[in-house]
Amino acid sequence: MMKTEILKKLRNTNEYISGQTICKELGVSRTAVWKAVNQLKEEGYEFEAVQNKGYKIAKYPDLITKSEIESQIDQAAVIKNVKFFQEVDSTNNEAKRSAENGAADGTLFIAESQTGGRGRRGKNWVSPAGSGIWMSLLLRPQLTPTYAPMLTLIAAVAAAEAIAQVMTDASPDVCTQVKIKWPNDIVVNGRKVCGILTEMSAEMDSIHFVVIGLGINVNTTEFEDSIKDIASSLYAESGQHIKRAEIVLAFEKAFTRYYQYFQDKQDLSKVQDTYNSMLINVGRQVRVTEQNGDFTGIAKGTNEKGELIVQKQDGSEVCIAAGEVSVRGLYGYV
Ligand code: BTN
Repeated sequence: MMKTEILKKLRNTNEYISGQTICKELGVSRTAVWKAVNQLKEEGYEFEAVQNKGYKIAKYPDLITKSEIESQIDQAAVIKNVKFFQEVDSTNNEAKRSAENGAADGTLFIAESQTGGRGRRGKNWVSPAGSGIWMSLLLRPQLTPTYAPMLTLIAAVAAAEAIAQVMTDASPDVCTQVKIKWPNDIVVNGRKVCGILTEMSAEMDSIHFVVIGLGINVNTTEFEDSIKDIASSLYAESGQHIKRAEIVLAFEKAFTRYYQYFQDKQDLSKVQDTYNSMLINVGRQVRVTEQNGDFTGIAKGTNEKGELIVQKQDGSEVCIAAGEVSVRGLYGYV
């Protein structure tokens, strides 16, 4: 794709690159380059053009388009290609539909807005245009279905690391605390900024595909009444507008690192240690709401299956699997 190739070339240098060099290196006509540059301008990229020298990008807009993301992805990354939608019902739905029709492992479905965004436990996920990241990664791992919940764990750690890194870069003087609330909410200063919905199609002994859907409130400033006490955004917590593509890329790097290690070694201890070190619930009182009632206890961390270990008042320990269970702090969200 021409726009991706042009962005790749211009991004990797501080020098001006002439239209002629671009044409030669990409093996295309001047008109084709001119057309692609104009399309990029329309999307919001600002170019500096100097006669006899060429082009340089002066300003990158806050975009999560196919060319913006693909132009920055490493070859070795888990994400192999990007499908961008201005609007879609749900990127998880789209990923599942495409998976049924043979879409490849490592396809990322990302949308500017979702009309039917879905959260865990049947809730909806508000996904307006312009302020957030609504994306789903399609994977076809060579694993037995029992390992699938581990992928959510990896995604949670990768999302938390990405958010921490980008927020620190954006506002080094603002002290932010990025944590995971079991099983896979990312919280900043105790408020939810990201949720993860993992869905799977499998047989008894093999996974057809897994879809890991992430919703990240990046520059969101308004929240519905039902969530405004617990939800937040990276902007609200840091006071800085963050470019969404930076977070997608930081997530992709962290996810690739953990996922490849997990696939090579079939060992989750490294990611599990990191997960537990970021888990906000550890040592806190939690209220577990199950179908047949509530109970309270102290959260101890997760076991090797990603279940939350909770010590009840009588001293006994129970392991809770994510699913239809809700875990809250005794006096609020965490
Ligand atoms: C949660 O309840 O915390 C999970 C929220 C997951 C939302 C994301 S947004 C992208 C993807 N598409 C969806 O419909 N849901 C996930």
